[in-house]
Amino acid sequence: MKNIGVLTSGGDAPGMNAAIRAIVRTSIYNGRDIYGIYEGYHGLIEGDIFKMQASDVSNIIQRGGTILRSARSQKFLEKKHRQKAYKNLCSKDIGSLIVIGGDGTFKGACEFKNEYPDINIIGIPSTIDNDLYGTDYTIGFDTACNTVVEAVDKIRDTASSHSRIFFVEVMGRDAGYIALYTGIANGAEEILIPETKTNIDDLVDNIKNRWRINKKSSIIIVAEGEETGGAVKVSQIVKEKLPDYEIRYTILGHIQRGGNPTMRDRLNASRMGYHAVKSLIIGEDKIMIGIMNDQIVKIPLERAVKNFKAVDKDLIEMMYILAI
Ligand code: F6P
Repeated sequence: MKNIGVLTSGGDAPGMNAAIRAIVRTSIYNGRDIYGIYEGYHGLIEGDIFKMQASDVSNIIQRGGTILRSARSQKFLEKKHRQKAYKNLCSKDIGSLIVIGGDGTFKGACEFKNEYPDINIIGIPSTIDNDLYGTDYTIGFDTACNTVVEAVDKIRDTASSHSRIFFVEVMGRDAGYIALYTGIANGAEEILIPETKTNIDDLVDNIKNRWRINKKSSIIIVAEGEETGGAVKVSQIVKEKLPDYEIRYTILGHIQRGGNPTMRDRLNASRMGYHAVKSLIIGEDKIMIGIMNDQIVKIPLERAVKNFKAVDKDLIEMMYILAI
């Protein structure tokens, strides 16, 4: 019975602590020693590893961020550093690793697994972007969306009081999940996501048409990134075409990554953490624990990395109809 290690890697996400708590307590309950690894793969390479007790995870379920801290390790891309990481695991007799993170974290895990097959690896999907195949929701997405919804509600007060057009940029990297879900929940007039092509002329016409029917303010949610152009660029182009309109932009930025996790994120994270340990105990390996239709599912880690999770077309269609 070898020991279990746990790390958080990539962008932090609210709910990571709830997952760590579940992993630590389920491991101890089942008589297994559990080791925390600081700063993701960076700490694994540096040997920043410590034995965890049940009390180490007291009073963290409600906290955002990650008590294990996180990093995007460039070193882990190199074979020689992965070898160092392996040696550090062996020195603590760690035979199983639970990695909590997103796409990049899982890619690193697959590479490591191919080189060191004796280490069992389980992935827990955690990123505010919700862009991982094989799970309906990733840890952190729900909290990030609620943060956006609250912020945009406030921005709308100003937009309607001053008859302004507000472009609000949200995170998501290459995926439009945060923009689409929050845009619908905020009743946004337009939602620009990487999954659909942005037509600036249509956007301008829509703003003008709304003005004619006395709808003088608009909230336009813009997913970050090159595909949409981002809120700054798009708002500038629109301003050039509509110089008489009052146009503003807001970039919500990292407030979306922080804050106390919602009930949904705490629950999902606890379930995934608990099942990750149970899976290891029965000898499962190289899988991601996901949640689909509110049921725990397990898929090969490589499938989660290689497949693309497309946004629901029905939501896109609905978005256009509800915004008329
Ligand atoms: O993957 C989570 C995320 O917040 C993305 O939405 C965003 O593009 C990126 O991380 C920002 O990364 P960083 O905090 O390293 O600037």
